[in-house]
Amino acid sequence: MAHALGTPLYVYSRAALDFNLESFENALREVRHRTFYAVKANFNLAILRWFNQAGCSFDVVSSGELHRVERSGAPPHRIAFGGVAKTSSELEEAIQRGLFCIHAESVEEVEKLAELANRLNSAARVGLRINPEIDARTHPYIATGRREDKFGIDIETLDRVLSAIRRESRLRLISIGSHIGSQILDLEPYRQSFLKLLALAERLRGEGFDIRNIDIGGGFGIPQQGEPPFDLAALGGFLREHQGQYRVLFEPGRYLVGNAGILVTRVLYRKAKQGRRFLLVDAGMSDFMRPTLYGAYHGVAALRQGLPEMRGDLAGPVCESGDFFALDRDLPDAEPGELLAIENTGAYGSVLTHNYNARRRPAEVLVEGDSFRVIRRRETLEDLIRLEEESASQELSV
Ligand code: LLP
Repeated sequence: MAHALGTPLYVYSRAALDFNLESFENALREVRHRTFYAVKANFNLAILRWFNQAGCSFDVVSSGELHRVERSGAPPHRIAFGGVAKTSSELEEAIQRGLFCIHAESVEEVEKLAELANRLNSAARVGLRINPEIDARTHPYIATGRREDKFGIDIETLDRVLSAIRRESRLRLISIGSHIGSQILDLEPYRQSFLKLLALAERLRGEGFDIRNIDIGGGFGIPQQGEPPFDLAALGGFLREHQGQYRVLFEPGRYLVGNAGILVTRVLYRKAKQGRRFLLVDAGMSDFMRPTLYGAYHGVAALRQGLPEMRGDLAGPVCESGDFFALDRDLPDAEPGELLAIENTGAYGSVLTHNYNARRRPAEVLVEGDSFRVIRRRETLEDLIRLEEESASQELSV
């Protein structure tokens, strides 16, 4: 595939997608639940179509993600809209489509939602994302359930949120939930947050709200360096025991697509400097951001087996010292021209690519059985300047 299409190249495996979704559903088979794939993890249309055909529901956080999911063929009743700062037009779209649920994150948002539902004279199903004040002990940039994080509704403002919902009969509260962070391998924070939500749901039912769903969010981590995997079956057992009359909503992203993708890159140079060794490859932080953004660990393997090892850095061509994939690690001692795979890049890989240094975004392929197909072609030089060229003739007065 690298020979046919060049590198860097995102390669996804259909078999791994099948396997991941099946094991997810299997571990939760005794829990009354619904799975909303978190589109932000990988929004390639072919991947979304695959999820749609598998019968999954979708969690979107912008008009753009909604557009992609609709294009994949998913009906509105299988889409939930979340996000901490939705625009009025995004809320309007969500109301007009009649989505399964709009997850709100503040009093101000619920008030805006009430006003829009009233103006559009349309009903809307609402979920409340509560900040459960739980530290899931993941990287601070991807921890979302702590008191100081911007996400969710503080318990102190809940009464105001509830009166705003009571005042507008077009709003129907159907769910409460939380999302405590991402790449979490420990079960305990989920137990804590579910029990908090459960107590809250009971209280709200007592106050006359017909809440039927508890949304536990996503965040289920995948092993990156041989850690024990997230024990989803144990979470399933816990939820089945405690869920009572409630249906549990899940919003997994990484767990379903993370290990279904690799980024294939070619070695350009092997360089030694001040006693430090560098493998310089043709992928950069513009193609894969996680090591730069979070210091994330991703395995690196040579596609050709049997290469000796070297100690050093794996870095890219981008003009930033943060442009690296591995620092001071054991790497394949690969000659220029060798192909390497950066592992577990199916989630938060292609979606975080950008054009810095006027680099073209990589192609993406999906392997199905013995064959593969291009599901996004590589960007061209023309793609890079199209929007500017198209704007060039427009002259507007200030
Ligand atoms: N639900 C909500 C409300 C979320 O905010 C997220 C992720 C998910 C579900 C899915 O989380 P997952 O199951 O994929 O962990 N770019 C970062 C991850 C950011 C996650 C943001 N929210 C990374 O590369 O680690």
